[in-house]
Formats: sequence, structure tokens, C-alpha cells
Amino acid sequence: MSGTHTAETTSKITGYVIGAVKRVIPPSAQPGANRLFDKTTNAVESALGWREELTPPLRIRIHIGPFADPRLYRLAGDMNVEGFKDLAGLKPNAAFLDIACGCGRVARALTKYLDASAKYEGFDAAKKPVEWAQSVITPKFPNFHFRTADTFNKRYNPLGKMGASELIFSYEDNTFDFAFAGSLYTHMVPEEVTNFVRETKRVLKPGGTTVATYCLLNERTLPIVDAGKSMPRLIYKYGDCRVRTPKDPAHFIAHPEEWVRKLYEDAGLKIVEPIARGTWAETTPESMPLEKYHLGGSPSSRASQDAVIAVKS
Ligand SMILES: C[S@@+](CC[C@H](N)C(=O)[O-])C[C@H]1O[C@@H](n2cnc3c(N)ncnc32)[C@H](O)[C@@H]1O
Repeated sequence: MSGTHTAETTSKITGYVIGAVKRVIPPSAQPGANRLFDKTTNAVESALGWREELTPPLRIRIHIGPFADPRLYRLAGDMNVEGFKDLAGLKPNAAFLDIACGCGRVARALTKYLDASAKYEGFDAAKKPVEWAQSVITPKFPNFHFRTADTFNKRYNPLGKMGASELIFSYEDNTFDFAFAGSLYTHMVPEEVTNFVRETKRVLKPGGTTVATYCLLNERTLPIVDAGKSMPRLIYKYGDCRVRTPKDPAHFIAHPEEWVRKLYEDAGLKIVEPIARGTWAETTPESMPLEKYHLGGSPSSRASQDAVIAVKS
């Protein structure tokens, strides 16, 4: 088994075990069980020399991706930030918005790059990862703020009270220099993506840059996807999209490139050409330079998503 598959499998098994244990423990006992689990896994990681303060415990990391190994979690964040600098010109004094920030994987990496005049704001639908980031990252870096947006997502926030297509981002117009949405639109149906892209445009300053990752369906990728060869496998139709399971289209979804291009044009966001191609639908010469940044993927999966970089006109 390759290192890639080992890391993916370990993360999957860990996720199942956490889910199974959660189902048998009564809700009143869960906070205590979580603390014990975190203490144990942190102790193991400490003994291995893998702990670091701004890296959340295993239970929290698993929420956002195949990050059973904390070293991969850190490497992926660091490489994302390299990508923002190299591909999209992120400056150290930027006002940065992290749309669906999870537990601050990218925030952690940005603490080493953004300076004291910069500002970081992150929001996410899931409460626990955000609370962790609020309690650990913000006290050390007071210009880093995290908040929740209680939007529904069957996989990530099944009790969410609001539809993602209705959310108004909690920030003023023209606030940010840079906005990132990493591996989020691969978990949103078209009307939800539409709202988030329009909101991103609203809160960006004129000339501000957005980077968002997608799995884009086009003439090259669609035959690969329909043949069941993409990572992940997305063989079910949902309108013009392709999804992992028809039971929950937002569990993992690929969007038509033509539709995304029109959405950006209508929203007033000019796409920086060429779109950076990921490896989720096979590695190509175009995807090789992007692969090292792990955008929308992790070093364990080697399946990076396409990165759409755009500027507010
Ligand atoms: C694959 S994780 C990526 C997290 C983070 N962007 C990163 O790259 O580390 C997807 C994230 O999207 C969040 N999410 C899903 N639906 C959302 C919504 N409607 N509003 C805000 N966040 C959402 C999930 O809670 C989860 O943290």
C-alpha cells in the first residue's frame, strides 16, 4: 500500500471509529468523552514529537479532511499559502477572508506570513472547529478572528438553521483584499455557490482577489468523470453537475466550467486565465505546476482541485 493510500485509509478508519463511538455514547457524556479522546490522541502525537500548539486534535482535524497525520495538516496549509503568494499575489498586510475556514488550517499557516497590520477573518458552518480556532489561535494572534454561520449542510452542519443560498456574509462591502474558499464549492449545490460567489464579490475591495477551488466539468474532465475515473468518483448526475451520491448532492459535487465562468462574469469577477488545473481528474501537464500547492486537496490525496483565481473589477 502506498503512503498516499495509507494516510487516506487511516483518516477514513479514524473517522468511522469516532462516528461509531459517538453513536453509542449518550449526549450528556460526550463532552467528557471528547476531552478524554483529545487528551489521549494529543499524548500519542506528543510522544511521537508531532504536536504543535496551533494544530487541533485529531477529532477536530478529521472534520475538514484526511488529516489523521498532523504533519500533513501543517504541510497542506503551508503549501496553500505558498500558492496564494505565487499564483495570486497575496501580500503580508492583506485583509484576508477565509470562507469556510474549518479549524483554521490555512489561518495557522497565515500566522507565519501575515504581519501585524493584516487582518484575518474566517467563518464556517461547523461550530466545533470554529470554537477550537477561537480558543487557541485568536488569543495568540488577536488580528485573527473566527465565527460561525449557521447554514445547513447535511454533511458538515446537519442542524443548520439557514440555507447557504440565503446567507449574507457578516462583513461590510469592500472590506477584504483576498478571499479564499478552499474545498467548499465541492460541497455546495449551484444556488448555494451562486450566493457565496456574489457575497464574495460584495465584500472584496475593488481590485481584490479571490481564490476558490472547484472540480470543473469540461470537455476534458467530463469523459473521465463519467467513466468513474476521477478522485473522488462522481458518477451520478445532478442537473449538469456530477455528484458522489444522489442521496446528498452536496456531499461532493463537480460543477460545469461554463456555468462557473458565467457566474463570475455576471457577478463582476474577472477570472485570471488560464484557470489553474488540479489533478482530481487525472494528472496533465497543466496540472503539474498546481499539484504542489495542494489546493483543495491534501498531500495525502494528491488530488488537488481546480483553482479559480479572479479579481473584482
Ligand atoms: C473540506 S472542508 C475545508 C475546510 C477549509 N476550507 C480548509 O481548506 O481547511 C469544507 C468546510 O466547509 C464547511 N462548510 C460546508 N458548508 C458550509 C456552509 N454552507 N457555510 C460555511 N461553511 C460550510 C465545512 O464545515 C468544512 O469546514
